[in-house]
Amino acid sequence: MNKGLFISVEGIDGAGKSTHVNLIREYLESKGKTVVVTREPGGTELGEQIRNLLLHSHNMHHNTELLLMFASRQELIDKVIRPNLEQGVCVIADRFVDASLAYQGAGRGIGMDKVYQVMNWLEPVLKTDLTFLFNVPLSVAFERVGKNRNKDRIEKESIDFFTKVQNAYLDIASKEPGRMKVIRTNRPKHESREEIIRHLDGLLKKN
Ligand SMILES: Nc1ncnc2c1ncn2[C@@H]1O[C@H](COP(=O)(O)OP(=O)(O)OP(=O)(O)O)[C@@H](O)[C@H]1O
Ligand SMILES: [Mg+2]
Repeated sequence: MNKGLFISVEGIDGAGKSTHVNLIREYLESKGKTVVVTREPGGTELGEQIRNLLLHSHNMHHNTELLLMFASRQELIDKVIRPNLEQGVCVIADRFVDASLAYQGAGRGIGMDKVYQVMNWLEPVLKTDLTFLFNVPLSVAFERVGKNRNKDRIEKESIDFFTKVQNAYLDIASKEPGRMKVIRTNRPKHESREEIIRHLDGLLKKN
């Protein structure tokens, strides 16, 4: 049983994860919680080196991509997430295992079963208390990402790829409605904010 709350944010690139991580952090802090934010891949010394490989290598086998994602994640769990949760610190993860199910399992076509197999290798097995899936039409996400920066290897993928990723995320949410909450972000920010806070209040009440 975790002492701190473990919350992740998911969604395709440009969906609004980073925007809302800040909001979630501020809200939990206003309730007296100590909060640590992580991002994937990366977040540890070794993980940042893996991130660089993942985002900028050429011609990588899909299985290599999957295993590197999980290697980075195992470091993050061991060095940052687990120790903080044990101390009662809340952890907000900008992407966690659902991202591998969606991006590598569905987007790359490796298959969910294989991703679940690798997932079961992680130590300890960790479930988020709450996961927000930010959902936005692909065209809106593409426009938001395109405006803001140079794209990395994964961000340069096709519409077909991101459609599979998005559908896989929605599929997970429909199977685990208690854990994963879908938040539409193609609307004014204060509206998504209110919905997120309702879910956070629900979680805080239970803990
Ligand atoms: N609810 C919203 N309403 C309007 N604009 C939003 C909303 N949420 C996010 N945005 C805008 O969309 C853009 C992308 O958001 P953000 O960087 O948070 O996405 P992200 O999911 O973290 O993307 P990445 O995966 O690429 O890091 C930002 O310019 C942000 O201001
Ligand atoms: Mg982001």
